[in-house]
Amino acid sequence: MSQPETFMKSLKGKVAVVTGAGRPKGIGRASALRLAEHGANVVVTDICRKYEGDLAAYGVGDDWAQLQGVVREIEARGSRGLACQVDVTKRSEIAACVDETMAAFGRIDILMNNAGTAVGVGPFLEMSQKQWDLSLNVNVTGMFNFCQSVIPRMIDGGAGVIVNTASLAGLGAGELMCGYVTSKFAVVGLTKAIAAEFGIYGIRCNAICPGMVDTDMGDSEYEFISQMEGISIEEARQRAAEKIALRRQCKPEEVADVVAYLCSPAASYITGVAMPVAGGMAQGL
Ligand SMILES: NC(=O)c1ccc[n+]([C@@H]2O[C@H](COP(=O)([O-])OP(=O)(O)OC[C@H]3O[C@@H](n4cnc5c(N)ncnc54)[C@H](O)[C@@H]3O)[C@@H](O)[C@H]2O)c1
Repeated sequence: MSQPETFMKSLKGKVAVVTGAGRPKGIGRASALRLAEHGANVVVTDICRKYEGDLAAYGVGDDWAQLQGVVREIEARGSRGLACQVDVTKRSEIAACVDETMAAFGRIDILMNNAGTAVGVGPFLEMSQKQWDLSLNVNVTGMFNFCQSVIPRMIDGGAGVIVNTASLAGLGAGELMCGYVTSKFAVVGLTKAIAAEFGIYGIRCNAICPGMVDTDMGDSEYEFISQMEGISIEEARQRAAEKIALRRQCKPEEVADVVAYLCSPAASYITGVAMPVAGGMAQGL
């Protein structure tokens, strides 16, 4: 997408932290690179380890080398980058990352809470307590943790922008994703509560609500649908596209453009919104 001159480089000198940014096809990496293209220095974080035990099957960005690769991509765009290994459910790891960021850059202007998991997608009655807890811990408590750690720095800096990755599933419910839907509705609530409380400090907080994005998480949804309905993965993709007004899935870069806009001065009067980035896909119930 081509941007007017005034919008490009409008984040020069700003410092952004993006969570869940290690996966090559992810919304986090695409957003981190777009913020860098707009001039921001970007700290990218990811869990960089596998879940243990019966949760090990759930894909996460478990690769430290990949996260460092994103830093090199940020630097190739003329900005500074930093990688931090952070499990968003662990407050001590967040505190260490925020301290490292402050030591390296002296400020935090932008926080993109993007880390998320679709753990437990499937029939409600089959969802284990462990899956439910992980879903809420990563998708909601992780954002609570990061916001509590970063907002005091934004208050000290006199302003800030937070973008939380919710989902269209945070605006309307579909079947077979109870934990995910519950967590993403909570993300929208958290977003609005923070916008209401911290606007007085010049802090804006918005949520993005993507529909069907071509990422690893998106791919796993088609695998799930193909198993549930006994159809091929390609057919599952096509059926999903038929429910979208634009008749195609979203590219991570198209979400990243919205993130960059919300972080820019062009969105200086937008706070507390939950913005669908869904190509005209109807939200659920
Ligand atoms: N792909 C879609 O269709 C879609 C639609 C709506 C919303 N989303 C949301 O977008 C965000 C990014 O997802 P994506 O589609 O790019 O998939 P993705 O799997 O590439 O990204 C999710 C990221 O979160 C990280 N993560 C998971 N648990 C973590 C933890 N405990 N601590 C730190 N990081 C952790 C993963 O390692 C991964 O990098 C998620 O919040 C997801 O719910 C995705």
